[in-house]
Amino acid sequence: MDRIRIVGGRPLNGTIPISGAKNATLPLMIAALLTEDTLILDNVPRLADVAQLQRILGNHGVDIMVGGKRSGDSEYHGQTVHISAARIVDTTAPYELVSKMRASFWVIAPLVARMGEARVSMPGGCAIGTRPVDLLIMALERLGVQIEIDAGYVIARATNGLKGGEIVFPKVTVGGTHTALMAAALANGTSVIENAAREPEIVDVADCLNKMGAKITGAGTPRIVVEGVTRLHGARHRVLPDRIETGTYAMAVAMAGGDVLLEGARPELLQAGLDVISRAGAEVAVTNAGVRVARNGAGLAPVEVTTAPFPGFPTDLQAQFMALMTRAGGNSRITETIFENRFMHVQELARLGARIHLDGQVAVVEGVEKLKGAPVMATDLRASVSLVIAALAAEGETMVNRVYHLDRGFERLEDKLGRCGAEIERISG
Ligand code: EPZ
Repeated sequence: MDRIRIVGGRPLNGTIPISGAKNATLPLMIAALLTEDTLILDNVPRLADVAQLQRILGNHGVDIMVGGKRSGDSEYHGQTVHISAARIVDTTAPYELVSKMRASFWVIAPLVARMGEARVSMPGGCAIGTRPVDLLIMALERLGVQIEIDAGYVIARATNGLKGGEIVFPKVTVGGTHTALMAAALANGTSVIENAAREPEIVDVADCLNKMGAKITGAGTPRIVVEGVTRLHGARHRVLPDRIETGTYAMAVAMAGGDVLLEGARPELLQAGLDVISRAGAEVAVTNAGVRVARNGAGLAPVEVTTAPFPGFPTDLQAQFMALMTRAGGNSRITETIFENRFMHVQELARLGARIHLDGQVAVVEGVEKLKGAPVMATDLRASVSLVIAALAAEGETMVNRVYHLDRGFERLEDKLGRCGAEIERISG
């Protein structure tokens, strides 16, 4: 298993290109199941999760072609992927595949909407909480799908097609909203989704579905209306930039010091995150090319943060922000409201010398003068990258183990940070 070795204490200076968003790419690829035509996605990041979803879609009979390099392309340009679900040969998504990546459960919606049936393994729990699928199932039922649970599988049937309906989510769910959108797109009649997730990735998927012929209005607001159509066609869509990658590198610069342009970042996708970073003492400036983050000399100020659905502060940046606050001049409070068990990074940050006290969903971080390098590992992707951020400011060497978590969601991390002056290397094997 690969490891990443970091020697802390170097500022970051230069340009970091921001990749396409993982959490938009995954549902966009799944949306290709809704049509027999080809969906072309541009700016697709090279990530382990994308490769895993390719395997899952391949099992349903989907052909995927990754476009070759064109002249002028660098390794930093996202890939162009052609996805064709002309013939779906299997409507089962087996445990061995779904258990590796929770988002793959979402195939249930396009499969049942287009084929009238789907058999998808329950995704099970994971390292950040129980993460049930009850609301995704509720959404499908509201659209006339019959659901049966058998031997760990959710079996969805809609022999006479889906019917438009009203879906009221009791809590905001990104996956629930993606599921509802994809299913409602091919339902007979109009559907209304209330208390919908407003995340930019939902808007990106709705935009792509509309290019495919869907009739969706209100994406990005809590009320989405979908007028069902009988068929969707092919389209070409560019994946939006990754706001979590943007926020992660912004925090890395705030932690290590220096001056970095986050190229291609869109600040409006991450206002709450960027506000918090500037309150902590970094300079954040919007330029034509992206977002520039700098911190020179000034210390870090403690900031109180509570995670919330978009437009609030994202749970996917909570671990990274906690790493930053370990060096603040005072105590900061971080409250996690989305997932009940997303503090797995706390004990690993403590190995680097951080002082963090946990009380239920609240972490109080007592800023320390210095962190010291140590071997660490993490159990999920955002927790892993929080250790990288802490290591950039720690004295001496930190070895981050289980790098496969990082590879799920960060494209060429060591390369992007290394080019800006970090002492970082991947050790294979
Ligand atoms: C998406 O997960 C993201 N994943 C997560 O990113 C992100 O942390 C999360 O949204 C919240 O922003 C992808 O987009 C692929 P939810 P999702 O349904 O859709 C509860 C990362 O690091 N809930 O919005 O699975 C749930 O337990 C990942 O990139 C139910 O109770 O999250 C949680 O408390 C990790 N029943 C809350 O809702 C359900 O049926 C929000 O979860 C579904 C969810």
